[in-house]
Amino acid sequence: MRRLPTSPSAATEIVGLFEELLSLSNLKKGETVLVYCDTLTPPFYAAAAMGAAHQMGAIVAQMMVPATSPAVQPWAPDVPEAKPEMIMSAWMGADLVVDIITGAGQLYTPITKLARQSGTRVLRIMAELDDLRRMWPTDSVKERALRSQAVLATGNELRVTSKAGTDLVMDKTGRPAGAQYGRADEPGRWEMPNGGQVACAPIEGSVEGTLVLDVGDIILNLARYVADPVRIIIEKGAITNIDGGLEAFLLQDWFETWHDPKAYIVSHIGWGCHDKASWHRMGNPWLGTGGFMDCESYYGNMQIAFGNNMGQMGGENDTRAHIDIQCRNNDFWVDDLQVLAEGQFLIDELK
Ligand SMILES: [Fe+2]
Repeated sequence: MRRLPTSPSAATEIVGLFEELLSLSNLKKGETVLVYCDTLTPPFYAAAAMGAAHQMGAIVAQMMVPATSPAVQPWAPDVPEAKPEMIMSAWMGADLVVDIITGAGQLYTPITKLARQSGTRVLRIMAELDDLRRMWPTDSVKERALRSQAVLATGNELRVTSKAGTDLVMDKTGRPAGAQYGRADEPGRWEMPNGGQVACAPIEGSVEGTLVLDVGDIILNLARYVADPVRIIIEKGAITNIDGGLEAFLLQDWFETWHDPKAYIVSHIGWGCHDKASWHRMGNPWLGTGGFMDCESYYGNMQIAFGNNMGQMGGENDTRAHIDIQCRNNDFWVDDLQVLAEGQFLIDELK
C-alpha cells in the first residue's frame, strides 16, 4: 500500500534527509535558499526543505504559487509564456532554489535560464521518498556521470543503432555534453537529486536516419511503455514521419498539439548511468506516481528528446515543446568509440 503522510509533521522525519541532500549541493551557512513550491506540493517536503536549510544556517524563504496559474505552468501548449518579475527576482536572488513544484514549473523557461546565468543553483525534487532514498546521489553516480560526460564531449559524430531497426547518425562538432548527477554543487547548476545521465544537443539539421521504439521502450511524456513498435523517420534534424500502432498515434497527437514545427526537431541524445534506476518503476502505481528519473537515468539506456534544447547543452531550438524517449538495448558510438552494445557499457570506466 502506498504510504501517504497525513500531517505536515511528517517533515520531522526527513529534515535530516534533506539536510544531507542540501549538503551534497554544497549549501553553506549564510547562503540564501528559496523553497519554491505550489499548492499541490506535499507540505512535508516544503517544511523539511525549509527546516533543513534553516538548521544549516542558511537564510531561507518559501514562495508558494498557485498550481493552476499559467504564469508558473508554461510547459503546455496554448498557454502564453510568462516570466513574472516577482518570481524571477526571487530565483535570481537565491544562491540555491529548492524547486518542489508539482507541474512543469520553470523547466525550459527564461526564469531558469536567467537565474542560472546569475549563478543560482537549482535542486528540483520530483520524487517519492522511497525513490529518493533508493536513487541517492552517491559519489559513484557523480563519478560515472562525469566520466560519461567526458567521453560524450570529445566526440564529433554520434551513431545509434539497434536490432529493432534504429540507425541514426548526427553531428555534434563543438557542442558540449551535459551531465546530471544529483547535486547542484556548482554555481548555475540545475539538478534533480535522483539524476544520473548525460546528453548533448546535436548540430541543428544534422540528424538523419530511423528511430525505432521497440516493445518496452518508454515515451516519458505519455508515461507509457511501447506495446507496438514505433518507426520514426528523421531527416535534416527533424521528424518527418511516425508510423506504428497505438503509441505512434498518441505520439503524433502529442506533437500536433503544439502547432510548432520546432517540436519535431531532435533536442538531445545521450545515455543513463544511474545503477539504482528501475525500468519497471513507472509501471508500478502502488509506489505512487513517479519514476521520471528511473526512466531517464536508467543504466545503459539510450535517451533521445525532441523540442527545446536551450539549456546547458548549447542547442538553438527555442520552442515550448519537449519530449523525452528512452530505449533499451541500443548500440551507441561516439566517433569510432563504441560506448554501448545492446544497452551494455563496453568501456570499463563507465561501468
Ligand atoms: Fe529532455
